[in-house]
Amino acid sequence: MRIVLVGPPGAGKGTQAVRLAEKLRIPHISTGDLFRANISRQTELGKLAKSYMDAGNLVPDEVTIGMAKDRMEQPDAEGGFLLDGFPRNVSQAEALDRLLQEESMQLDAVLDLEVPEDEVVKRIAGRRICRNDSSHVFHVTYSPPKQEGVCDVCGGELYQRDDDSEDTVRKRLEVYHSQTEPIIDYYKAQGLVVTISSLGPVEEITQRALGALKRED
Ligand code: AP5
Ligand code: ZN
Repeated sequence: MRIVLVGPPGAGKGTQAVRLAEKLRIPHISTGDLFRANISRQTELGKLAKSYMDAGNLVPDEVTIGMAKDRMEQPDAEGGFLLDGFPRNVSQAEALDRLLQEESMQLDAVLDLEVPEDEVVKRIAGRRICRNDSSHVFHVTYSPPKQEGVCDVCGGELYQRDDDSEDTVRKRLEVYHSQTEPIIDYYKAQGLVVTISSLGPVEEITQRALGALKRED
């Protein structure tokens, strides 16, 4: 399956993507995680991306589309993938369509996670992620690690993302509404959008998503 996950910052895209990718046996491709891995390795791409991310802005398309394309062309993505955080504006969606067309492939669904803005703020304020791998995600209240400050998956140190400050979150939400939300209409026109509520226990949302994608666990 080829799936795009869309939703505001803090909607639970990363949390659900890890679980759905495992159940559907497809790789989870997160452009945010790819950028963060570059930042921690201090690559040129990481240095460039950090300045945009810390301000809550999108990293320029020229950089992002190339990086996403390289990742989608890896052998593990041949049979399908779950895209998280890409595409993030209409020109990225058009670029993805062109890439898929070149390979005679198409998307199966765009899963839209809906969550009210006050919940987003609470989720982001309590989020802690792992220094070793930013797809290891916790929440101080909603999904606390067994040991405070330590990743359950790999033992790495947990920290708060630099772009999770109140001002930057406000900017990220603004960017979501102005630049990312329009891709929902773009994909509605292709009949691909399934919308689910991202409120409730994590496992329930996973089941809701699988049901919407017409896949039983
Ligand atoms: P990215 O990393 O993609 O961030 P985002 O879209 O803002 O989304 P988040 O990671 O904040 O939230 P999420 O929906 O994954 O929620 P999570 O599962 O962590 O992008 C960061 C930046 O990179 C962008 O601002 C941009 O600069 C750049 N970038 C990335 N892609 C780009 C692109 N394509 N083009 C240009 N720039 C790009 O959950 C949040 C918290 O809630 C966690 O603590 C979690 O434990 C908790 N939680 C999850 N589910 C539940 C639940 N059901 N109940 C209670 N708590 C829950
Ligand atoms: Zn970890």
